[in-house]
Amino acid sequence: MIRLSHAAHARPVLGALVAGCLWGLGAPALANPALQQGRALFLGSEAMPARSGTGGPALPASASRCSNCHSAPGVPGLGRAPVTPDAGSAAGNTSFGPALNSALMLNAQPRRGGPSSRYDAPALCRLLRQGIDPAGVVLAAAMPRYVLSDAQCLALWTLLTSDL
Ligand code: HEC
Repeated sequence: MIRLSHAAHARPVLGALVAGCLWGLGAPALANPALQQGRALFLGSEAMPARSGTGGPALPASASRCSNCHSAPGVPGLGRAPVTPDAGSAAGNTSFGPALNSALMLNAQPRRGGPSSRYDAPALCRLLRQGIDPAGVVLAAAMPRYVLSDAQCLALWTLLTSDL
């Protein structure tokens, strides 16, 4: 005779699905690629050819990265002395630039003794390439001049006006 001796254990169906909890977390906000590129350019991990405002040899990324002389939204400046040998000294200018943010970019204000002006993306591109500000005033030589694409310029514009 066959005895069915299986005890009928009532197994709690606590097969709780841990993975299911992930549903509650929501998808992480997608990172803005322009912002990411802007940060890489600002920190010099994506390099752009650059020279001092007085010309001279090409600057290495370690000297020309923006973060040597500026802070930006969400990116603290490194606060290191720039490596440009002639930066500032001849013209009596400080080598360190202003903290960059949307207020500085977008608010109309007098800059360098010129008439009141504000930036837009093309004005930032002109400044970075030629060292000329929106009011047509030439920047101090300490601020390098860069060779950069429109896309790189827009990425920097996105970062500087992001107000993170
Ligand atoms: C070696 C130091 C140095 C580096 C590197 C540097 N800057 Fe500057 N920057 C300056 C200085 C100094 C000024 C102020 C120049 C003046 O007023 O004539 C300036 C001015 C500016 C201004 C003008 C702000 C205004 O109120 O008009 C902008 C915008 C700017 N820099 C952006 C950048 C960006 C973006 C980078 C990197 C791609 C960069 N800078 C790299 C030193 C630097």
